Amino acid sequence: MKQAFIIGDPISHSLSPKLHQFWIKKYNIAGSYGAINISNKELALFIKRLKKGEFIGGNITIPHKENIMRLCDDISEEANEIGAVNTLIIKDKEIFGTNSDWLGFLANLDKNAKGWDKDAQAKQAIVIGAGGASRAIIYALMRRKLSEIHILNRTKAKAITLSKQMKLHSYKEVKITAHSLEEFNILAPDISLVINTSSVGMNNTKFENIALEKLPTSAIINDIVYTPINTPLLLSAKKLHLKTIDGLGMLLFQAILGFESWFGVKPEVDDELISYMLKFLDEK
Ligand code: ATR
Repeated sequence: MKQAFIIGDPISHSLSPKLHQFWIKKYNIAGSYGAINISNKELALFIKRLKKGEFIGGNITIPHKENIMRLCDDISEEANEIGAVNTLIIKDKEIFGTNSDWLGFLANLDKNAKGWDKDAQAKQAIVIGAGGASRAIIYALMRRKLSEIHILNRTKAKAITLSKQMKLHSYKEVKITAHSLEEFNILAPDISLVINTSSVGMNNTKFENIALEKLPTSAIINDIVYTPINTPLLLSAKKLHLKTIDGLGMLLFQAILGFESWFGVKPEVDDELISYMLKFLDEK
Protein backbone atom coordinates (compact mmCIF):
# COMPACT_ATOMS: atom_id res chain seq x y z
CA MET A 1 0.00 0.00 0.00
CA LYS A 2 1.31 3.45 -0.91
CA GLN A 3 1.62 5.61 2.18
CA ALA A 4 1.79 9.41 2.24
CA PHE A 5 1.89 11.85 5.16
CA ILE A 6 1.72 15.43 6.32
CA ILE A 7 4.15 16.51 9.03
CA GLY A 8 4.03 19.66 11.13
CA ASP A 9 3.78 20.85 14.70
CA PRO A 10 0.96 21.28 15.62
CA ILE A 11 -0.75 19.11 13.00
CA SER A 12 -4.06 17.95 14.46
CA HIS A 13 -6.03 20.80 12.82
CA SER A 14 -4.72 20.14 9.30
CA LEU A 15 -7.42 19.60 6.67
CA SER A 16 -5.04 17.80 4.29
CA PRO A 17 -5.85 14.27 5.58
CA LYS A 18 -9.57 14.86 4.92
CA LEU A 19 -8.80 16.10 1.43
CA HIS A 20 -6.41 13.33 0.38
CA GLN A 21 -8.54 10.62 1.97
CA PHE A 22 -11.53 11.93 -0.04
CA TRP A 23 -9.53 11.50 -3.26
CA ILE A 24 -8.07 8.11 -2.21
CA LYS A 25 -11.62 6.83 -1.79
CA LYS A 26 -12.97 8.54 -4.91
CA TYR A 27 -10.25 7.11 -7.18
CA ASN A 28 -10.18 3.69 -5.48
CA ILE A 29 -6.52 3.89 -4.61
CA ALA A 30 -4.73 1.37 -2.41
CA GLY A 31 -3.12 4.08 -0.36
CA SER A 32 -3.17 6.12 2.81
CA TYR A 33 -2.48 9.68 3.90
CA GLY A 34 -2.04 10.48 7.57
CA ALA A 35 -0.95 13.37 9.80
CA ILE A 36 2.14 12.90 11.95
CA ASN A 37 3.20 15.39 14.59
CA ILE A 38 6.94 15.99 14.20
CA SER A 39 8.71 18.61 16.32
CA ASN A 40 11.82 20.50 15.20
CA LYS A 41 13.94 18.11 17.24
CA GLU A 42 12.38 15.05 15.60
CA LEU A 43 12.77 16.22 11.99
CA ALA A 44 16.20 14.74 11.23
CA LEU A 45 15.15 11.38 12.64
CA PHE A 46 11.97 11.44 10.54
CA ILE A 47 14.08 11.98 7.42
CA LYS A 48 16.08 8.86 8.31
CA ARG A 49 12.76 7.00 8.49
CA LEU A 50 11.85 8.31 5.02
CA LYS A 51 15.18 7.04 3.69
CA LYS A 52 14.11 3.52 4.64
CA GLY A 53 11.34 3.66 2.06
CA GLU A 54 8.26 3.46 4.26
CA PHE A 55 6.51 6.36 2.46
CA ILE A 56 6.14 7.51 -1.16
CA GLY A 57 6.04 11.14 -0.12
CA GLY A 58 4.10 13.71 1.78
CA ASN A 59 3.41 17.30 2.69
CA ILE A 60 5.39 19.57 4.95
CA THR A 61 3.82 22.35 6.94
CA ILE A 62 4.67 24.81 9.71
CA PRO A 63 7.35 24.89 11.18
CA HIS A 64 9.35 22.70 8.77
CA LYS A 65 8.86 24.22 5.29
CA GLU A 66 12.26 25.95 5.36
CA ASN A 67 14.28 23.54 7.56
CA ILE A 68 13.38 20.52 5.45
CA MET A 69 15.27 22.01 2.49
CA ARG A 70 18.73 21.10 3.75
CA LEU A 71 17.57 17.54 4.45
CA CYS A 72 16.36 16.83 0.89
CA ASP A 73 18.55 15.10 -1.71
CA ASP A 74 17.29 17.40 -4.45
CA ILE A 75 15.06 20.48 -4.60
CA SER A 76 13.05 21.93 -7.49
CA GLU A 77 14.01 25.29 -8.95
CA GLU A 78 10.66 26.74 -7.83
CA ALA A 79 11.07 25.64 -4.21
CA ASN A 80 14.57 27.12 -4.21
CA GLU A 81 13.29 30.44 -5.52
CA ILE A 82 10.46 30.50 -2.96
CA GLY A 83 12.72 29.30 -0.14
CA ALA A 84 10.26 26.68 1.10
CA VAL A 85 9.32 23.07 0.42
CA ASN A 86 5.76 21.82 1.04
CA THR A 87 5.78 18.57 -0.96
CA LEU A 88 8.17 15.61 -0.83
CA ILE A 89 8.36 12.93 -3.49
CA ILE A 90 10.42 9.88 -2.55
CA LYS A 91 11.83 7.59 -5.25
CA ASP A 92 14.52 4.95 -4.73
CA LYS A 93 15.00 6.28 -1.21
CA GLU A 94 15.96 9.70 -2.61
CA ILE A 95 13.98 12.66 -1.26
CA PHE A 96 12.92 15.31 -3.75
CA GLY A 97 11.47 18.52 -2.31
CA THR A 98 9.22 20.85 -4.26
CA ASN A 99 6.62 23.56 -3.70
CA SER A 100 3.00 23.46 -4.84
CA ASP A 101 1.68 26.48 -2.92
CA TRP A 102 2.35 28.85 -5.82
CA LEU A 103 0.62 26.47 -8.23
CA GLY A 104 -2.38 26.19 -5.92
CA PHE A 105 -2.62 29.95 -5.64
CA LEU A 106 -2.55 30.42 -9.43
CA ALA A 107 -4.96 27.56 -10.20
CA ASN A 108 -7.46 28.99 -7.71
CA LEU A 109 -7.32 32.44 -9.32
CA ASP A 110 -7.46 31.00 -12.84
CA LYS A 111 -10.59 29.05 -11.93
CA ASN A 112 -12.40 31.73 -9.95
CA ALA A 113 -11.30 34.91 -11.69
CA LYS A 114 -10.74 33.92 -15.32
CA GLY A 115 -8.60 36.43 -17.17
CA TRP A 116 -7.29 38.03 -13.96
CA ASP A 117 -3.79 38.15 -15.49
CA LYS A 118 -4.83 39.50 -18.90
CA ASP A 119 -2.50 42.41 -19.73
CA ALA A 120 -0.49 41.44 -16.64
CA GLN A 121 2.28 43.84 -17.63
CA ALA A 122 -0.11 46.70 -16.93
CA LYS A 123 -1.35 45.38 -13.58
CA GLN A 124 -0.30 45.97 -9.98
CA ALA A 125 -0.99 43.79 -6.94
CA ILE A 126 -0.86 44.34 -3.20
CA VAL A 127 0.37 41.41 -1.10
CA ILE A 128 -0.40 41.92 2.59
CA GLY A 129 1.99 40.11 4.92
CA ALA A 130 5.69 39.27 4.74
CA GLY A 131 5.75 35.88 6.48
CA GLY A 132 6.26 32.40 5.07
CA ALA A 133 2.96 32.32 3.19
CA SER A 134 3.64 35.47 1.18
CA ARG A 135 6.76 34.14 -0.56
CA ALA A 136 5.01 31.54 -2.73
CA ILE A 137 2.38 34.10 -3.69
CA ILE A 138 4.87 36.79 -4.65
CA TYR A 139 6.74 34.17 -6.68
CA ALA A 140 3.50 33.16 -8.44
CA LEU A 141 2.73 36.78 -9.34
CA MET A 142 6.29 37.17 -10.67
CA ARG A 143 5.80 34.10 -12.85
CA ARG A 144 2.72 35.73 -14.38
CA LYS A 145 4.80 38.87 -14.95
CA LEU A 146 2.65 41.50 -13.25
CA SER A 147 3.98 45.00 -13.63
CA GLU A 148 4.40 45.71 -9.93
CA ILE A 149 3.96 43.88 -6.63
CA HIS A 150 3.61 45.96 -3.48
CA ILE A 151 4.41 44.09 -0.27
CA LEU A 152 2.58 45.68 2.66
CA ASN A 153 3.39 44.59 6.18
CA ARG A 154 2.67 45.75 9.73
CA THR A 155 6.43 45.65 10.31
CA LYS A 156 7.74 47.51 7.26
CA ALA A 157 11.33 46.32 7.84
CA LYS A 158 10.24 42.74 7.11
CA ALA A 159 8.57 43.83 3.87
CA ILE A 160 11.81 45.56 2.84
CA THR A 161 13.90 42.42 3.57
CA LEU A 162 11.46 40.22 1.66
CA SER A 163 11.31 42.57 -1.34
CA LYS A 164 15.12 42.50 -1.55
CA GLN A 165 15.16 38.69 -1.44
CA MET A 166 12.46 38.34 -4.09
CA LYS A 167 14.21 40.82 -6.39
CA LEU A 168 17.13 38.40 -6.66
CA HIS A 169 14.96 36.03 -8.69
CA SER A 170 14.88 35.47 -12.41
CA TYR A 171 11.84 37.64 -13.14
CA LYS A 172 13.65 40.94 -13.12
CA GLU A 173 11.05 42.85 -15.15
CA VAL A 174 8.59 42.71 -12.24
CA LYS A 175 8.91 45.67 -9.88
CA ILE A 176 8.71 44.82 -6.17
CA THR A 177 8.25 47.51 -3.53
CA ALA A 178 7.87 47.45 0.25
CA HIS A 179 5.42 49.49 2.33
CA SER A 180 3.77 49.71 5.70
CA LEU A 181 0.09 48.69 5.95
CA GLU A 182 -0.87 52.36 6.26
CA GLU A 183 0.09 52.93 2.64
CA PHE A 184 -2.77 50.74 1.38
CA ASN A 185 -5.16 53.65 0.87
CA ILE A 186 -2.64 55.64 -1.19
CA LEU A 187 -1.77 52.72 -3.48
CA ALA A 188 -5.34 51.37 -3.78
CA PRO A 189 -6.62 53.33 -6.85
CA ASP A 190 -4.04 51.61 -9.13
CA ILE A 191 -4.43 48.06 -7.80
CA SER A 192 -6.04 45.15 -9.71
CA LEU A 193 -5.53 42.42 -7.11
CA VAL A 194 -5.18 42.30 -3.31
CA ILE A 195 -4.02 39.12 -1.54
CA ASN A 196 -4.01 38.79 2.22
CA THR A 197 -1.28 36.38 3.29
CA SER A 198 -1.07 37.65 6.88
CA SER A 199 -2.77 35.95 9.79
CA VAL A 200 -5.28 38.79 10.10
CA GLY A 201 -8.75 37.35 9.48
CA MET A 202 -8.17 34.17 11.48
CA ASN A 203 -10.84 33.93 14.18
CA ASN A 204 -12.53 36.99 12.63
CA THR A 205 -9.73 39.45 13.38
CA LYS A 206 -9.91 42.63 11.34
CA PHE A 207 -7.64 45.12 9.62
CA GLU A 208 -7.89 48.68 10.77
CA ASN A 209 -7.76 51.60 8.37
CA ILE A 210 -7.83 49.64 5.13
CA ALA A 211 -10.24 51.48 2.84
CA LEU A 212 -11.31 48.94 0.22
CA GLU A 213 -13.57 51.58 -1.34
CA LYS A 214 -10.44 53.29 -2.68
CA LEU A 215 -9.80 50.29 -4.98
CA PRO A 216 -11.11 50.28 -8.58
CA THR A 217 -14.50 48.54 -8.84
CA SER A 218 -12.82 45.84 -10.97
CA ALA A 219 -10.37 44.85 -8.20
CA ILE A 220 -10.17 41.24 -6.97
CA ILE A 221 -9.70 40.45 -3.26
CA ASN A 222 -8.19 37.06 -2.37
CA ASP A 223 -7.81 36.04 1.26
CA ILE A 224 -5.71 32.92 1.85
CA VAL A 225 -7.07 32.66 5.41
CA TYR A 226 -9.89 30.08 5.46
CA THR A 227 -10.82 29.98 9.14
CA PRO A 228 -13.44 31.44 8.77
CA ILE A 229 -14.07 31.01 5.05
CA ASN A 230 -15.72 34.45 4.92
CA THR A 231 -13.11 36.59 6.63
CA PRO A 232 -14.02 40.14 7.69
CA LEU A 233 -11.88 41.38 4.75
CA LEU A 234 -13.87 39.32 2.24
CA LEU A 235 -17.18 40.35 3.81
CA SER A 236 -16.24 44.05 3.51
CA ALA A 237 -15.20 43.50 -0.11
CA LYS A 238 -18.49 41.73 -0.87
CA LYS A 239 -20.45 44.67 0.55
CA LEU A 240 -18.66 46.87 -1.98
CA HIS A 241 -19.48 44.36 -4.78
CA LEU A 242 -15.80 43.63 -5.37
CA LYS A 243 -14.85 40.19 -6.72
CA THR A 244 -13.76 37.97 -3.80
CA ILE A 245 -11.91 34.66 -3.67
CA ASP A 246 -11.65 32.64 -0.46
CA GLY A 247 -8.72 30.62 0.85
CA LEU A 248 -10.09 27.10 0.52
CA GLY A 249 -9.34 26.88 -3.20
CA MET A 250 -5.60 27.39 -2.78
CA LEU A 251 -5.48 24.60 -0.20
CA LEU A 252 -7.32 22.23 -2.54
CA PHE A 253 -5.42 23.09 -5.71
CA GLN A 254 -1.98 22.93 -4.08
CA ALA A 255 -2.70 19.30 -3.16
CA ILE A 256 -3.01 18.12 -6.79
CA LEU A 257 0.74 17.97 -7.46
CA GLY A 258 1.47 15.73 -4.46
CA PHE A 259 -1.49 13.41 -4.97
CA GLU A 260 -0.69 12.90 -8.65
CA SER A 261 3.02 12.26 -7.97
CA TRP A 262 2.33 9.73 -5.21
CA PHE A 263 -0.72 7.89 -6.46
CA GLY A 264 -0.54 8.38 -10.25
CA VAL A 265 -3.98 9.95 -10.71
CA LYS A 266 -4.57 13.64 -11.30
CA PRO A 267 -7.39 14.49 -8.88
CA GLU A 268 -10.14 16.97 -9.55
CA VAL A 269 -11.25 19.94 -7.49
CA ASP A 270 -15.01 19.85 -8.01
CA ASP A 271 -18.14 21.09 -6.22
CA GLU A 272 -18.57 17.81 -4.34
CA LEU A 273 -15.09 18.14 -2.82
CA ILE A 274 -15.61 21.82 -2.01
CA SER A 275 -18.87 21.18 -0.13
CA TYR A 276 -17.30 18.19 1.66
CA MET A 277 -14.39 20.36 2.86
CA LEU A 278 -16.64 23.28 3.80
CA LYS A 279 -18.39 21.00 6.31
CA PHE A 280 -15.12 20.59 8.22
CA LEU A 281 -14.46 24.32 8.09
CA ASP A 282 -17.89 25.00 9.59
CA GLU A 283 -16.89 22.82 12.52
CA LYS A 284 -13.76 24.85 13.19
P1 ATR B 1 3.03 32.66 7.82
O1 ATR B 1 4.20 31.76 7.71
O2 ATR B 1 1.71 31.94 7.87
O3 ATR B 1 3.00 33.74 6.80
P2 ATR B 1 4.16 34.36 9.87
O4 ATR B 1 5.51 34.13 9.29
O5 ATR B 1 4.01 34.31 11.34
O6 ATR B 1 3.12 33.33 9.27
O7 ATR B 1 3.63 35.75 9.34
C1 ATR B 1 2.47 36.29 9.77
C2 ATR B 1 2.20 37.59 9.00
O8 ATR B 1 1.00 38.17 9.51
C3 ATR B 1 3.29 38.65 9.17
O9 ATR B 1 3.40 39.37 7.96
C4 ATR B 1 2.72 39.50 10.30
O10 ATR B 1 3.18 40.83 10.33
P3 ATR B 1 4.54 41.22 11.17
O11 ATR B 1 5.67 40.88 10.26
O12 ATR B 1 4.40 42.67 11.42
O13 ATR B 1 4.51 40.40 12.42
C5 ATR B 1 1.25 39.49 9.94
N1 ATR B 1 0.40 39.83 11.09
C6 ATR B 1 0.14 39.05 12.17
N2 ATR B 1 -0.71 39.69 13.01
C7 ATR B 1 -1.00 40.90 12.46
C8 ATR B 1 -1.83 42.02 12.83
N3 ATR B 1 -2.54 42.01 13.94
N4 ATR B 1 -1.87 43.08 11.98
C9 ATR B 1 -1.17 43.08 10.82
N5 ATR B 1 -0.37 42.06 10.41
C10 ATR B 1 -0.28 40.99 11.21
